[in-house]
Amino acid sequence: MHHKKILIISAMAEEMLPITKYLSYEKMLKAGDIVEHGSYVFAVSSIGKVAAAMTLTKVLEQYNIDAIINIGLAGSLSPHLEFGDVVVVKHTIEHDGLIEGDNEAQKRLYPLFELLTVEHPELKSGILVTGDQFVASGSTREMLQSKGGQLVDMEWAALAKVADHYQKPLISLKIISDNADEEAWENFFKNLHAGERVVKHLPFILEFIVNN
Ligand code: ADE
Repeated sequence: MHHKKILIISAMAEEMLPITKYLSYEKMLKAGDIVEHGSYVFAVSSIGKVAAAMTLTKVLEQYNIDAIINIGLAGSLSPHLEFGDVVVVKHTIEHDGLIEGDNEAQKRLYPLFELLTVEHPELKSGILVTGDQFVASGSTREMLQSKGGQLVDMEWAALAKVADHYQKPLISLKIISDNADEEAWENFFKNLHAGERVVKHLPFILEFIVNN
């Protein structure tokens, strides 16, 4: 029987730590690490679109991955997304590039996306904008809101692009760490370990991926 191989990818080791712990991997990962652990591969890309794309490409060339889960912090651009909320990305826009649109790879996990939001109503979903900058000002925040963004990160659109290329399904679990405003840096570091918020959703997600 083919055991499904699931990639869990984060930009920072701190974002990934609660998940590797939950999956009984005891060592602390660092930026650049790609580690195989049973039916999982853990990858810590480091920050930004290039690092994310490079790392995901490397993993997908090296391992036979069945599904990708991206776990990481994101800034909120919406009053409906509050600190600690776990958000499943619905749609992505690369705010400092040219790419806009749904992505096919994500659609392949759409049943999971729908199930998650129905069976776990505490999970929210939103339109995420990605770019190579940490947003920490009211003016940039407003500009991103005007593009339809509800949350912001620095990797997802790049991961989506690579996953599309390799036709690998992916899903995100973004945890709101800050409001992308003048206090964003302070709040981001305060909430650096908010990744533990996704642990309670993992059994459901992993079971779905393994059974579908
Ligand atoms: N990830 C978490 N918070 C962020 C912010 N304010 N800007 C970009 N990426 C983020």
